[in-house]
Amino acid sequence: MDNLETFFLFFLLSIIHASGYCPISSCSRDDISVRFPFRLEGPQPQYCGYPGFNLSCNNQSKTVLKLPCSGDFLVRGINYLTQQIQVYDSDNCLPKRLLSFNLSGSPFVAAAYHNYTFLSCPTQIVESRLTTIDCLSNSTTSVLATASMSIADSLSTSCRIIITLPIPVSWPFQYGEEFSSALQDDLRLTWYSPACEECEQQGGICGFKTNNTREIGCFDYSNTGRSTSALQIFRVICLSVAIPSIVLAAGIVTFAFVFDRRPQQTRPQANQTSDTATVSPQPTISMVGLDEATIESYEKVVLGESMRLPTGPNNNTCAICLSEYCSKDTLRCIPACNHWFHVGCIDKWLRMNNSCPVCRNSPSPGHIGSQNV
Ligand SMILES: *[C@@H]1O[C@H](CO)[C@@H](O)[C@H](O)[C@H]1NC(C)=O
Ligand SMILES: *[C@@H]1O[C@H](CO)[C@@H](O)[C@H](O)[C@H]1NC(C)=O
Ligand SMILES: *[C@@H]1O[C@H](CO)[C@@H](O)[C@H](O)[C@H]1NC(C)=O
Ligand SMILES: *[C@@H]1O[C@H](CO)[C@@H](O)[C@H](O)[C@H]1NC(C)=O
Ligand SMILES: *[C@@H]1O[C@H](CO)[C@@H](O)[C@H](O)[C@H]1NC(C)=O
Ligand SMILES: *[C@@H]1O[C@H](CO)[C@@H](O)[C@H](O)[C@H]1NC(C)=O
Repeated sequence: MDNLETFFLFFLLSIIHASGYCPISSCSRDDISVRFPFRLEGPQPQYCGYPGFNLSCNNQSKTVLKLPCSGDFLVRGINYLTQQIQVYDSDNCLPKRLLSFNLSGSPFVAAAYHNYTFLSCPTQIVESRLTTIDCLSNSTTSVLATASMSIADSLSTSCRIIITLPIPVSWPFQYGEEFSSALQDDLRLTWYSPACEECEQQGGICGFKTNNTREIGCFDYSNTGRSTSALQIFRVICLSVAIPSIVLAAGIVTFAFVFDRRPQQTRPQANQTSDTATVSPQPTISMVGLDEATIESYEKVVLGESMRLPTGPNNNTCAICLSEYCSKDTLRCIPACNHWFHVGCIDKWLRMNNSCPVCRNSPSPGHIGSQNV
């Protein structure tokens, strides 16, 4: 009996430790939620965050990440499950920031790097199909960036090469000979330590085990595992043994509190977007990909001898892996824009992104789940 009571109290304490002392915080009511390993300077005490994961609020109640060598970025979203943070430039000129970008001193890494060449061209020679970086261009000079050496070479007679440097990108493949549009997207950075994926996958929340060690523990909010057994014990205690009424009252209040919070703590797998907490200035950009059922609902064909795609522009190259289609290749199509890709390439992409890698269109909500071919 003593053991049960101790266990019960321990359970209460662990909840208080996880939710009471380190409450989830945010800069404004509809901004992203900040929790371990991140910490908002101010509302959350130092032991609530892992070193290097300080965030702060700017004077417009936006969440700010300060990178030691590259300055301040605004945070669009944090995916605690995939350990990704999505940041953008407050002046909407990410390419300019990328020209002098250095992650050293921070716990974050880029998924991959591509060498991009930045070129400065007289505006009148820039063809309309090339995307210029507007925030670096003016009426006489256009700045553009390309990952393709052949394009950079072909332009080098009329343009001046500013610099070639590795740029962090979120996708290890280079899709097409695309110009700078990829650089205008938000920057997605990953962290590996602390490793909380397993804990998050189980619906838990990571935190320091004790106040003064770096050891990470997993705190359980949901009605699985430890708290289920604690709940059963709680019932047994209530039904069969008289506990001091004060403990009982405290237990009920705490239980109600935990139960009440559960909708906010939705398990990431159940509804990934809720945990991503993407803010909405650009609703099409979201950190999460699509689920398998949605991906599987997009049309898939095995290419015949004629090599003709059933719909859309008849391109013969997969823009993700840049290899040409062969007959018998299995292709998949994004319904919103009829762009086709190798099924292996696009499935991998869609698990991480919910937009087309070529045109950045999101499959319209009407298509999601409704198209079954
Ligand atoms: C994070 O906050 C703590 C406590 O305020 C401070 O000691 C530390 O230097 C901060 N780290 C960074 C990288 O700003
Ligand atoms: C917010 O802070 C920036 C500098 O960090 C300043 O330029 C701007 O005027 C401030 N805006 C308001 C509304 O206080
Ligand atoms: C980033 O900064 C560190 C320290 O300041 C420096 O050693 C490193 O060379 C820099 N990296 C790049 C790519 O500039
Ligand atoms: C970028 O270019 C440098 C120098 O040409 C080369 O060493 C490096 O491997 C390239 N990086 C990538 C990611 O292609
Ligand atoms: C445009 O920018 C270039 C350098 O980036 C500068 O030399 C030129 O004077 C600018 N032209 C105008 C009209 O501002
Ligand atoms: C954690 O330690 C700090 C000082 O190191 C102290 O101020 C704080 O109250 C402690 N928090 C808990 C929950 O023990």
